[in-house]
Amino acid sequence: ATSVQTSTATLSHRVQMREEGIPVIGRGQARANANIALIKYWGKADEDLIIPMTSSLSLTLDGLSTRTEVEFLDATAGSDLLTIDDQPQGGRALGRISQFLDVIRKRADIDAPARVSSYNTVPYGAGLASSSSAFAALAGAACAAAGLNVSRQDLSRLARRGSGSACRSIYGGLVQWQAGHDDASSYAEPVETDMDLALIVVLISGQEKHISSRQAMRHTMSTSPFYRAWVEQSKDDLEQALVAVHTNDINTLGEIVEANALSMHAAMMAARPAVSYWLPDTLVAFEAVHQIRSDGLDAWATMDAGPNIKVLTSGQQAIQVAEELRERLPGVNIQVHRPGPGLQVNGAGDGRT
Ligand code: DP6
Repeated sequence: ATSVQTSTATLSHRVQMREEGIPVIGRGQARANANIALIKYWGKADEDLIIPMTSSLSLTLDGLSTRTEVEFLDATAGSDLLTIDDQPQGGRALGRISQFLDVIRKRADIDAPARVSSYNTVPYGAGLASSSSAFAALAGAACAAAGLNVSRQDLSRLARRGSGSACRSIYGGLVQWQAGHDDASSYAEPVETDMDLALIVVLISGQEKHISSRQAMRHTMSTSPFYRAWVEQSKDDLEQALVAVHTNDINTLGEIVEANALSMHAAMMAARPAVSYWLPDTLVAFEAVHQIRSDGLDAWATMDAGPNIKVLTSGQQAIQVAEELRERLPGVNIQVHRPGPGLQVNGAGDGRT
């Protein structure tokens, strides 16, 4: 495991004054890529620690990233400050970041407020996994700023506390999140594979979702009569997906991936009242994927907490599948994403997968 290259010893020596006059007691930067689940995480066994009901499998993508800087400030600075793409944030967004930073502060035994600035290449809150890259980057930057010496596995556990899916963005490429049963046993790990995969993001709407995945999964768990069935099915799906990965069988993998996503949405639809992220154009896009597949190309759709779809294909066919999708879905933004690297902290060679 790679460690963040900052030690507590150097922290007190790095006291610096910024232009604003508030002493900075530690600074860290990190960049992380978003990941898209192939076998979904939907529901928590522990809300507080974010322990999932099921293990999941994902692909970390290139080009959908968050870059974050954290500065811990002298206590006189007051409370935490957050900007996202240079826009000052308050309310729930800031509250969630502060709560996460408390986990880091407790661990580092510091009491310092933080200034957090974050830049995204992912539309925020649109079911494009922005929280996965955001909390992975924040975990990396905050640990470096606090002078914590942490392993990749620690970073995965910490990122999980911010947003479950973020624990998978610590690693590049194909990643499995072991559900575990407590804080120590619930973390992600890379899955070794020679598979040549790509995901095509079909952006049907970049608007913020009407119900957060956090609320929606809680509501599905507590009211959907299909939730239990989804949990059971999902265990089988993961097992079979891993066999398909190890035997380099994209057809089987694709079929399971599409079915797993649809089963998750079926459980949501059966919730009372129903949770639906579907727009008419979402169905049109699914239909396009099915047509392309019946023409003999590799294409299977998956969908998260938003109306956009992501199309699993092989790296080799990605350009052609994207062309076919553009032809059938005129005016829709369609981008090919290849597997991307894991968390990079301080740009100092920490980005290995
Ligand atoms: C549908 O990780 O955003 O994208 O842990 O409450 O922050 P919290 O939820 P989050 O949920 C992701 C749900 C999903 C499926 C997945 O990424 O596995």
